[in-house]
Amino acid sequence: MDEARLGVNIDHVATLRQARGTTYPDPVTAAALAELGGADQITIHLREDRRHIQERDLRILRETVQTRLNLEMAATKEMSKIAYEFKPEMATLVPEKREELTTEGGLDVALHRDAVKETVRFLKDGDIRVSLFVDPDIDQIRAAHKVSADAVELHTGAYCEAKSAVLRKAELQRLLDAAKTCAKIGLPVYAGHGLNLVNVGQVASILEITEFNIGHSILARAVFIGMQAAVAEMKTAIRQARRPGA
Ligand code: PXP
Repeated sequence: MDEARLGVNIDHVATLRQARGTTYPDPVTAAALAELGGADQITIHLREDRRHIQERDLRILRETVQTRLNLEMAATKEMSKIAYEFKPEMATLVPEKREELTTEGGLDVALHRDAVKETVRFLKDGDIRVSLFVDPDIDQIRAAHKVSADAVELHTGAYCEAKSAVLRKAELQRLLDAAKTCAKIGLPVYAGHGLNLVNVGQVASILEITEFNIGHSILARAVFIGMQAAVAEMKTAIRQARRPGA
């Protein structure tokens, strides 16, 4: 069976904490429970405006995470220095706009090639693997390969938010074509954004994709059934979609 890693994004645990300025719920506790539920990686986004995850969370998680830590970050000097200091196993470069609700589009690697290249080089010098969060677009994948990224994470938002079956099918095809291009050039390919129990199966059945980063839907389920159970059921959904003949 082709196993895939599940990275659990715990940002929204911090969102709930920051909403009241309390010390709870603690993303550190959430990470430990996610790992007990079968998470293969803990993903956090330290945003420039610090709206959810704080440096304190990164510092403690660096010590407590038993699996792998994936730090999503903007390609800035400030964030690069922080990543270099804390050494997550992987940094995922994402575009960041202050007014957005969440990461709305992929990084335009082709447009910001020099800045991205410089950040990739700096982080790799610090022994950090670097993944680029891009739209499922062949030019972006080629650009990611050219700047020596270690992997790309395909933005699944357009697929997840497609309003009709025709659009959904077209977006799934884009993901499939992008994943096959990555496989052809030897670039590890991951996926994330907007995935939930209903839509994850089709994307998880693309065997070239070897890692999924999922946050909001897992935490939404965790409110009702608990963190461990919510992570475990997402792992099961991904595993089932990758079974031969599924
Ligand atoms: N991957 C990346 C690069 C992201 O920016 C996000 C959102 O923070 C996710 C995955 C997870 O998206 P969602 O919360 O919609 O599952």
